[in-house]
Amino acid sequence: MPLPSTERILLGPGPSLIAPRVMRAMAAPVLSHLDPDFVPMLDEVRASLQRVFRADSKALTIATSGTGTSAMEAAVANAVAEGSRSVVIVTGYFGDRLAQIFERYGSTVRRVNVDWGRAVDPQRLRDELKREGADIVGFVHAETSTGVRNPVKELAAITREHGALSIVDMVTSLGGHEVDLAGWGVDIAYSCTQKCIGAPSGLAPIAVSGPARERLIPCRSFYLDLKLLEDYWAGRKYHHTMSSTLIYALREALLMVEEEGLAARQSRHERNHQALAAGIEAMGLSLLPPESERLWTLNAVRTPAGVDEAAVRRTLLTNYNIEVGAGLGPLAGKIWRVGLMGASSTPQTLLQFLAACEVALAAHGHSVPEGAGVAAASASLRSALVTA
Ligand SMILES: Cc1ncc(COP(=O)(O)O)c(C=O)c1O
Repeated sequence: MPLPSTERILLGPGPSLIAPRVMRAMAAPVLSHLDPDFVPMLDEVRASLQRVFRADSKALTIATSGTGTSAMEAAVANAVAEGSRSVVIVTGYFGDRLAQIFERYGSTVRRVNVDWGRAVDPQRLRDELKREGADIVGFVHAETSTGVRNPVKELAAITREHGALSIVDMVTSLGGHEVDLAGWGVDIAYSCTQKCIGAPSGLAPIAVSGPARERLIPCRSFYLDLKLLEDYWAGRKYHHTMSSTLIYALREALLMVEEEGLAARQSRHERNHQALAAGIEAMGLSLLPPESERLWTLNAVRTPAGVDEAAVRRTLLTNYNIEVGAGLGPLAGKIWRVGLMGASSTPQTLLQFLAACEVALAAHGHSVPEGAGVAAASASLRSALVTA
C-alpha cells in the first residue's frame, strides 16, 4: 500500500486535520528524551497546557505517552483507590468507558445513566450524592459518541460541595470549547492531541489541580504513575523514552492555539458549528441533541429513515475524499458523526461536506432540496461576518 498522496479531509470524531506548520515541526531531527536542547521544550509544553486548561498555578500539567485513553487511565490509576465509592455519569460510549476503567481499578461504581443524545441534568448528580456520598465523581465534558456537551461547571461544583474528587474527560473539548479548570474547580482533567489541539495522536494532556495533587494515591501502574512522570517532566529523571517528535508537534500545535487565542478559537468552533447546523437543517436533516446541549466540535447527524448509513460514508470517502464517523453502540447505523475540530473547523471544510453530502444522499436514494445546505450555511457564515 503506498503512502497517502493527498490530504484526506478529516471530518470524523478524530483525528482531525493538522496544520502544515505542525507537520513540518515533526520533520526536525530527533533529540533524545534527556537532551539539554530538548528538555526545555517539556517546560514550554507544561506551561502552555496550564494556560490552555486554565489550571491553577500549583497544578501538574503534563502529557502521557499514548492516546486519550492513556490519560483517561492515568487519571483513574492515580486517584481511584481499590474499594473506593464512585459515581460515573454515563451519557454515551465514553462515559461508559470511564466507568469500566473505574471498575477495573477496584472502585464500586454507581452509574448515572442518561439517554444517549441528552446531557445530564445536574440535579441527578446532586440527588445521587445526597442519597449516598462518593469519593470520586467521573464524567465526560464533550461526549463524542452523541455530540452532547455536559454542564461541567455545575457538575464540578456539586462534586466539590460533597467533598468528592472530580475526574473530567475533556478529550473533545480542550482547544474547541471553553475549559476553565481553576474557575470551575475541576480536580483532574485529561484530553488528547488529535482533535481540537491539532497535533497527531500519541500524547494525551492531563491536569491535576494543586489541591487534588494532595489527594493522589499510590499508583499501581508504573507507566502511568503521575509522580514518576513528573520526576521526568520537571525533574529530568529517566522514566521512559519520550518521543521528541511528538513533543515538537504538540508544542507547535499549542503555540498555534495560543496565537489564535482561546476565546477566538472557541468562537471559530461555534461559528462553524452554527453554519453546519443551519446547512443540515436546511437539507431536511436533523442533529441528535437539543440545541442547547450540542457540541460545536462534534455534530451527530441523524441518518434519514431508509438510508444506508455506511454506504453514504463510503461515497463521501471514495468520491469526495471526506471522512466522517459512524455511530457507536446503540447509535450504530443511526447517525453520522461530523467533527469540526481544530484545523478541520473551517468554512471550506463544512461547505465541502454539505455539498458532497447532498450528492451522496441522492446517490443512495434520498434527495434533499438542491443547494439548500450550502446556501443556508453560507448565509450563517455571512451573518457571523457582519456581526463580528
Ligand atoms: C470523549 C472521549 N474520551 C476518550 C477517548 C479515547 O481517546 P483515544 O481514542 O485517543 O484513546 C475518545 C476518543 O475519541 C473520546 O472521544
